[in-house]
Amino acid sequence: MKDDKQSDLPIGVFDSGVGGLTVLKAIQEALPNENLIYLGDTARLPYGTKSPVSIERYAIQAAAKLQEQGIKLLVVACNTASAVALDSLREAMAPLPVVGVVEPGATAAVAAHPGGRHLVLATEATARLGAYSRAITALDPQAVVREKACEMLVSLAEEGWSDGDIARRIVRRYLDEADGHDPDTIILGCTHFPLLKDTIQGVADAGVTIVDSASTAAEAVCDALIENSLMRDRDQPAQLRLLATDGATRFARVGGQFLGHDLSYKDVELVDL
Ligand code: DGL
Repeated sequence: MKDDKQSDLPIGVFDSGVGGLTVLKAIQEALPNENLIYLGDTARLPYGTKSPVSIERYAIQAAAKLQEQGIKLLVVACNTASAVALDSLREAMAPLPVVGVVEPGATAAVAAHPGGRHLVLATEATARLGAYSRAITALDPQAVVREKACEMLVSLAEEGWSDGDIARRIVRRYLDEADGHDPDTIILGCTHFPLLKDTIQGVADAGVTIVDSASTAAEAVCDALIENSLMRDRDQPAQLRLLATDGATRFARVGGQFLGHDLSYKDVELVDL
């Protein structure tokens, strides 16, 4: 059993921007006792169009910043950073436990449709690397996976245009481009896409299951805390700190949509990596 001091440390959650707040929210709901510290690397967003070398460097710097604050576990809430840099992050942060979002997403998809046909909507970098395809077929060799880069959906979510005619037409175009795959599940393989879930569900064929990795990622965090005897078991209310590398006002405005409640720029601490 680890001491109270260590289990009192926050869980560090990192994303390229505000999108990872969807994962933070799922962790808050699943583990309301846990202290949390979130870092959005808003100065360098988006990661999804960058090279693997840059993404890995950014991810390691962001994780080191969180480690410097004192954390007991790191959650890589960014699909792109999870796809590109999870192994390097685990090595760089050892012995700190590190949880990514690709494996939980793959687990949720396979549970939804064993032996199914899966369409992963993701950023360019995630889709190019095929991390979801590997994770899904490792769990379920019968599964058929296609990955589709949908960069425009990141901008729609950032702009707050996640529903309405424009969003529907853009989603329709991406799904048409993946025509012929005929998926059983559509996996939201990017932190921003849960905001577009209803739009994607409305455009997709009836019967397609939309898989969001946020809640399965929260379950993976819960398992990692239990495995490492790090669960916080205190009566004092949990604390949340929000850090960003740029644009506290924009972080608060867009981040509020992801968290589902208003944020002020005063809630956001600016940091340099
Ligand atoms: N956080 C990224 C992801 O989940 C999306 C935004 C970006 O490209 O940085 O893939």
